[in-house]
Amino acid sequence: MLDSSPQIEFPEYYREYFEPCRSKGLRGGRGSGKSHCFAGHLILRAASEEGFRAVCIREVQRSIADSVKQLLEDKIGAYGLSAFFKTTETEIAGANGSRIIFKGMQNHTAASIKSLEGFDVAWVEEAQTLSAKSLELLTPTMRKPGAEIWFSWNPESEEDPVDVFMRQEGADFICRTVNWNDNPWFPNVLRGEMERDKARDPDKYEHVWNGAYRGLSEARVFRNFRQGEIKPPANVVWFYGVDWGFSNDPAAGVRFCFPDKKTLYIRNEVYELGLPMEAHPTFIAGLPDAAKWPVRADNARPEIIDYCRRHGIRKIRAAKKGKGSVEDGVSFIQSFDVVIHPSCANTRREFQRYAYKTDSRTGEILPVIEDKNNHVIDALRYGCEGLHRKGKLITDTVKAGEAPRRGYFKEDGGVNWKTI
Ligand SMILES: Nc1ncnc2c1ncn2[C@@H]1O[C@H](COP(=O)(O)OP(=O)(O)OP(=O)(O)O)[C@@H](O)[C@H]1O
Ligand SMILES: [Mg+2]
Repeated sequence: MLDSSPQIEFPEYYREYFEPCRSKGLRGGRGSGKSHCFAGHLILRAASEEGFRAVCIREVQRSIADSVKQLLEDKIGAYGLSAFFKTTETEIAGANGSRIIFKGMQNHTAASIKSLEGFDVAWVEEAQTLSAKSLELLTPTMRKPGAEIWFSWNPESEEDPVDVFMRQEGADFICRTVNWNDNPWFPNVLRGEMERDKARDPDKYEHVWNGAYRGLSEARVFRNFRQGEIKPPANVVWFYGVDWGFSNDPAAGVRFCFPDKKTLYIRNEVYELGLPMEAHPTFIAGLPDAAKWPVRADNARPEIIDYCRRHGIRKIRAAKKGKGSVEDGVSFIQSFDVVIHPSCANTRREFQRYAYKTDSRTGEILPVIEDKNNHVIDALRYGCEGLHRKGKLITDTVKAGEAPRRGYFKEDGGVNWKTI
């Protein structure tokens, strides 16, 4: 059946995957040979087992070009089996009655997936994108005695359904993490890319090439902060911002200043869950001198603002918020070096975790900020609101033909413009 010089080779790590096992997982970084291993193995089984049936699955398969069909055809060629297999638009069929088909889980319903019941192998490629629903549909469907499910994926998040599923231990599971250095045929082009990422972007390198989960760092909104202590000038202007809590959200407040032109210094925080109405003035007074300085607060609860104003926080008023205020506030904060006093642990945690959303299917970072880890951040944004005009940033305004400039809020409320 095989011609004289077939290139049938597998990396050492794959040896045990030839043994029967219900669930087989290969997880790891780019170029580790995961796809080639499963593709080669599938072709060998289709060539040697009469009536063998396999389905190659992705969560989303818009067209056959999204599938591993081409890779399987390449393997057929490399193994010298071109005369044995016939490929059509949608499937690969062997002279022994074996068949390999290609499906996207999202095109399937609970009823239509039943057509896979007699299959021997389901190979899920890019399994980090597999939804919990798809996994729940698929596992009971593969019910033929000896049927196997193979998963190959590049780890994205430890909460991804495939990661959770394949973390189980026992005779039914085999799962290894493999990386580029486990692949004896790791190509030079990829090596070049890998070396560049390693040198320039260690977080990306760990995620893309070493199979680490995507660190939050890549999706993080703020990178411009550090913990530290600063002695601001005696005449510095203090700013105060407050975000009200709701059932499960804490109330948060911050006191901050701009000790020099490029620094935003967060000196104090207050942070508490489940505050009753009458506790709010004392809560805000936990920020030094809050009774004396203007305080800007979330406008969603005017009754609390009222209550606080009548109970000692005299200069409190509602922030305006409005369309684009989150983005404007965030880019304003991004334009400074933020220094967080060591006592402000909640502030530090939120700055670390405040993140853009990532697309659960592609892992790509989206231009939308997650509505999480933002209590102190929101308070800070409200406190900064007087520093933007008409929702526009004071900093970084660049008009055509003008040099970029940065403006600073003066004590009297005016703006000092400086060309950068
Ligand atoms: N058995 C093999 N024989 C020859 N070359 C191989 C073999 N396995 C892998 N390679 C080479 O290594 C490269 C990477 O392998 P493969 O595409 O299977 O990695 P992967 O882990 O699926 O990567 P990705 O995460 O990018 O999908 C292939 O393009 C091929 O050049
Ligand atoms: Mg692959």
